[in-house]
Amino acid sequence: MKVILLGPPGAGKGTQAQFITEKYGIPQISTGDMLRSAVKAGSELGLKVKDIMASGGLVSDEIIIALVKERILQADCSNGFLFDGFPRTIPQAQALVDAGVEIEYVVEIAVDDEQIVSRLSGRRVHENSGRVYHIEHNPPLNEGLDNETQEPLIQREDDKEATIRNRLSIYHGQTKPLVEFYTDLSKSKTSGPVFSTIDGLGGLDEVQARIVTALS
Ligand code: AP5
Ligand code: MG
Repeated sequence: MKVILLGPPGAGKGTQAQFITEKYGIPQISTGDMLRSAVKAGSELGLKVKDIMASGGLVSDEIIIALVKERILQADCSNGFLFDGFPRTIPQAQALVDAGVEIEYVVEIAVDDEQIVSRLSGRRVHENSGRVYHIEHNPPLNEGLDNETQEPLIQREDDKEATIRNRLSIYHGQTKPLVEFYTDLSKSKTSGPVFSTIDGLGGLDEVQARIVTALS
């Protein structure tokens, strides 16, 4: 199964991806997590993207497309994958079409801007795995520590209010147009993806149930 999770920063893409990958046995491909690992490792790619990410801007389509094309060739992608945070621009989505990658489901998780600011300011992450928590809505078992490794959780560099607002404005300008792109694609081809928008508000389980419905 090949799935895209669309949605603004903080919609819950990473949170729900954790459950989808387990349920459907497909890997999560989060371009954000991949780039953060590169920054942490101090690689050439990491040095190139560090400042852009900290400001909430978008990394170039060229870099992202090359990264994803290489990733989906790996053995764990043979039964499909879940894209989280990719594609984010029309050229990225078009690159998938041009490469003949046939996506089966595109699920947009809708959450309004004010809710996002509150979600992201309470977010904590486990850096090595990308596991996501929220201090109120999805707290770890032990405060400040990852459930599986007991390593300390961190706050992301780009989860400051001014940066969140910048990411939201970029989302509305560059990523939201993908809703029309995929709506049109789903109408134009018989084998095109099924496109659905689900409400991202409510408990984690409620949102999860809406995604399961969208994927069936
Ligand atoms: P990326 O890592 O993709 O960040 P993002 O899109 O801004 O999304 P987030 O990870 O912030 O949100 P999410 O939807 O995963 O929400 P989460 O589940 O964590 O990208 C980071 C940067 O990398 C970009 O700014 C850009 O620079 C670069 N980049 C990455 N991909 C790129 C691309 N394709 N092209 C160009 N540049 C790219 O949830 C958020 C919080 O809410 C958590 O605390 C969670 O616990 C909580 N929460 C989740 N669900 C609920 C719920 N139902 N109720 C209450 N709280 C909830
Ligand atoms: Mg995420």
